[in-house]
Amino acid sequence: MRFSKDLVEEIRSRNDIVELIGMYVNLKRAGSNFSGLCPYHSEKSPSFTVFPATQSFYCFGCGAGGDAITFAMRSENLDYPGAVEFLAKRAGITIPTDEKEERGIGRQRIYEMNLAAAKYFRNCLFDEKIGRVGMEYLAGKRKLPLVIIKRFGLGFAPDGFGGLTDHMKRLGFTEEELITGFLCGKSQKTGKVYDYFRNRVIFPIINTSGDIIGFGGRVMDDSKPKYLNSSDTPGFKKSRNLFALNYGKNHCSERLILCEGYMDVIACHAAGFENAVATLGTALTSEQARLMAKHTKQVIIAYDSDEAGQNATRKAIRMLTEVGLEVRVLHMEGAKDPDEYIKKYGADSFRALLDAGKTGFEFKLDATLEKHDISTADGKIKASRELCEYISEVNSGVEREVYIAITAKRLGLSEDGIKNDVASIRKKKMVEYHAGVSRQARNDAMGIGDRINSDGIKNIKARTAEEAIIGLLLLFDEYRAAVISKKVELDGEDFFSEFHKKVFETVCSLEGDGEYDFSLLGQFFSPDEMGRLEGLIQKRRELTENSLEVLRGCAEALRQEKQLSGQETIDAIQLLLASKREAKK
Ligand code: CTP
Ligand code: MN
Repeated sequence: MRFSKDLVEEIRSRNDIVELIGMYVNLKRAGSNFSGLCPYHSEKSPSFTVFPATQSFYCFGCGAGGDAITFAMRSENLDYPGAVEFLAKRAGITIPTDEKEERGIGRQRIYEMNLAAAKYFRNCLFDEKIGRVGMEYLAGKRKLPLVIIKRFGLGFAPDGFGGLTDHMKRLGFTEEELITGFLCGKSQKTGKVYDYFRNRVIFPIINTSGDIIGFGGRVMDDSKPKYLNSSDTPGFKKSRNLFALNYGKNHCSERLILCEGYMDVIACHAAGFENAVATLGTALTSEQARLMAKHTKQVIIAYDSDEAGQNATRKAIRMLTEVGLEVRVLHMEGAKDPDEYIKKYGADSFRALLDAGKTGFEFKLDATLEKHDISTADGKIKASRELCEYISEVNSGVEREVYIAITAKRLGLSEDGIKNDVASIRKKKMVEYHAGVSRQARNDAMGIGDRINSDGIKNIKARTAEEAIIGLLLLFDEYRAAVISKKVELDGEDFFSEFHKKVFETVCSLEGDGEYDFSLLGQFFSPDEMGRLEGLIQKRRELTENSLEVLRGCAEALRQEKQLSGQETIDAIQLLLASKREAKK
């Protein structure tokens, strides 16, 4: 797989990065650049910057960065070729077929395959003989109306190993494609390919663009595992999608209902609550929280009332609040989840429940009062401590005041007492936070915990020199030429860090072929690594002294460090030998 410089240049010139990123991030002009809230980490003031002059972006908060292709990879969850294709399509450019070769299995192919499979599952469900058990389960046992079964595209996977496999092969899908798409597995013993979903009702998972990205399959009795889910594929990342958001996205500008499972969501929709969504068999991720924040203002958490559900609720409150959403928690009594509640008490009761949802604080307050016996001194102290801890995390001063007043009243304590406790916890946290920040800054400076350049810590002088070299080479055409023509003496072996060495060698090899383009580095480096490279460019750009002499000086510094570290090894060995001689005597 190798794309040409001409192609990426054309793609870049026809996809203006400000306009591209502007579709995902609210950008404001800041001098000659643009800035906005970073889509890749939670922040309250914008450190995400787009540079029109270089058609690049960089987040000074989390270090995400790169070009339009990197941005498309991150935001659309694509691999490099997928992102190139995405941007080409967006600009109406046709990619020459020889550059498409060895593309692997792309997203579009997975979607085509899933659509074909979904049709097969649906036909099975609606087949009177084959789908009878499935229909009895969905329409009979779970009481789903036919319109809802159709609306969600539900299906049935018959009990047998080859039904879907044979059908899909007949349609021209290869075994490799079926396995990659998680529709089929391959037997380790016989090497035979078989249907992954068997004897289960099927829930297609559809993204907001209307593509089927995967499936969930439920057994119809109590056997295990209750659900099988597609694993992540080129078109599907569980952590970045929500079940039924494709239906909910036009009904949720005010509020989303976050459920735990597929069946809860479907029951909500059937009862007229079309703003219900669920995660895909995993705990809520920060990406999903941000996705919700894009679509709505308030999220009402409707998790199961069992302990697991309540623990998950606590975590979700935090994540959702962090991205600026208003959070409410549904309090269901007499039923374990929305599905059961609606069946038992009806849609109107459920609606009343939604409007009476507790705030995050009320949820915490009730849970705390339930846990401790506040008629005893000990219980009262413990409850107060827990609540003060919670309130101390609230950022708004007005909100804190309200909660302090409520807590004092409920515990029968003075407001001043609670207020003082909250203040001292906040103060302690502030000190810890600042200590943490400076520890982090020190670690960053030393390269501790650097996952991208993990061996940068070996030699700090060398790392600094290497970073300067890479920044300069990425920034100036003439320095790359100088290295290639040996006007500056520098070799991959001079580098201490594997990451920098790989960057250097990749840049030189592209440059040597007359094919260097920053955008082409994306096929050799991950988006995180591209962010680091963008960061090194930004660092260099802030400096005025970027002459060829600086480059030479850094190369020289590397060689000196190598010599020194070489000597150390010799010395250590000599010492060792000497001490052995010493011991023999
Ligand atoms: N889940 C899963 N694997 C399991 C059990 C659950 O992936 N073995 C996921 C599914 O996404 C499921 C969600 O966790 O939808 C919630 O689980 P549960 O409450 O057990 O499922 P419901 O969707 O409520 O289904 P039902 O009412 O049929 O039990
Ligand atoms: Mn459930």
